[in-house]
Amino acid sequence: MTQERPSSLHTMGQQHGRRSWAEPWKIKMVEPLKVTTREQRVTALEEAGYNTFLLRSDDVYIDLLTDSGTSAMSDRQWAGMMLGDEAYAGSRNFYHLDAAIKRFYGYAYMVPTHQGRGAEHLISQTLIKAGDHIGGNMYFTTTRLHQELAGATFHDVILDVAHDPQDLHPFKGNVDLAKVEALIERYGAAQIPYISLAATVNMAGGQPVSMANARELKALLDRHGIRLMLDATRLVENALFIQEREEGYADKSIAEICLEFCSLTDGAWMSAKKDNLVNIGGWLAVNDYSVFEELRNLVVVYEGLHTYGGLAGRDMEALAIGIEESMQDEHIRSRVGQVRYLGELLTEWDIPIVQPIGGHAIFLDARRFYPQLAQDLFPAQTLAAELYLDSGIRSMERGIASAGRNAETGDHNRPKLELTRLTIPRRVYTQAHMDVVAESVKACFDARDAARGLDMAYEPKYLRFFQARFTPR
Ligand SMILES: Cc1ncc(COP(=O)(O)O)c(C=O)c1O
Repeated sequence: MTQERPSSLHTMGQQHGRRSWAEPWKIKMVEPLKVTTREQRVTALEEAGYNTFLLRSDDVYIDLLTDSGTSAMSDRQWAGMMLGDEAYAGSRNFYHLDAAIKRFYGYAYMVPTHQGRGAEHLISQTLIKAGDHIGGNMYFTTTRLHQELAGATFHDVILDVAHDPQDLHPFKGNVDLAKVEALIERYGAAQIPYISLAATVNMAGGQPVSMANARELKALLDRHGIRLMLDATRLVENALFIQEREEGYADKSIAEICLEFCSLTDGAWMSAKKDNLVNIGGWLAVNDYSVFEELRNLVVVYEGLHTYGGLAGRDMEALAIGIEESMQDEHIRSRVGQVRYLGELLTEWDIPIVQPIGGHAIFLDARRFYPQLAQDLFPAQTLAAELYLDSGIRSMERGIASAGRNAETGDHNRPKLELTRLTIPRRVYTQAHMDVVAESVKACFDARDAARGLDMAYEPKYLRFFQARFTPR
């Protein structure tokens, strides 16, 4: 008599009623992973003050702290590293990078920077004056800080639904145009140098912005003579969502969609450590020559000469190649597909995550995970600690610790979203790693009633989440 096999022995594709897919690359070089015991992890976490940023990576098994600078470069990129022209001025790799940015993002002028925040610093110092106001589709930590250090006040102009982890709006990163109009009405266009548009929105859970929204926003801002500046860090992921969800884009390539999106903006800053598949690097690009002139002046002061901006020639070559690879449809489908695979497993087990599943990470909803914990007990930080203790998987807090303090009152900012981020590096882990991660999250979920929360024992002045220390209750 033949026995029915349990469904777990079916391939993942069969379980989902489709043909299986696999990562569109094969592995040429491996980096061994270290498995630790629970006792070792307890010691490591105590030493790290219960902050996953302070763990040594040697003590981590699967590292989902960030997708920033953690990508695996391709053989073509590594070959490009050997073609580094390390001239102080006019390196040929700079011209390759310049050409790649023009071709795929379409901006007229660019300066390289050491990473995204270098570009944020330059654009903030160039366009913002004290007393200005900046609207943005949700804050990002370093972006907002540079805007504030330049003298601006930040205003969140994202759709309200972006703050609701269960709302299924397909473009939760969209700007609420009424909020922008109210901002202009209140402060006047002269006090608003630009609107800051991130695509996708990291802090909202990797949620995309639609092309229609960007187009309407641009038209509104044009009427008031206000610039639209893009945080292009994860634009390629955003383009996939547009291709999948927005009418009229199903037959357009990712590269075409990115170019069209950028054409609606006046410039962009980039953390190339994400979409662009390099371990270090950034750039800042604009269409207005007079703005570029100022950027080219400032980059020399803070980053390096305008033809290297803090990067080695070899880094610029790897970046130029990475830009081209990042725009390939099959790459981005697999990258976002892997995130979605993990998210679907967790959803099937009723584990609370931000929906719809975003582009670069799964965001666990710590409020619903630990309903017994008040926000001041750092539920998302607690969950990151518990996950590490369970399996050595490293995640990151995106909640009250990341949100910092109100500059005027000194009280905690208390964001609606209290999230623990499982960020998937690009081209690094396989589907089997995602299975291991899912099972560890499930183990923490099953043990959720035992969580007691954390107190903050040390708080740095700036971007406190990076270096803060906690003690368990
Ligand atoms: C949306 C967004 N903008 C800007 C940055 C800053 O870039 P970097 O870390 O390269 O300084 C990041 C990095 O995490 C980001 O996610």
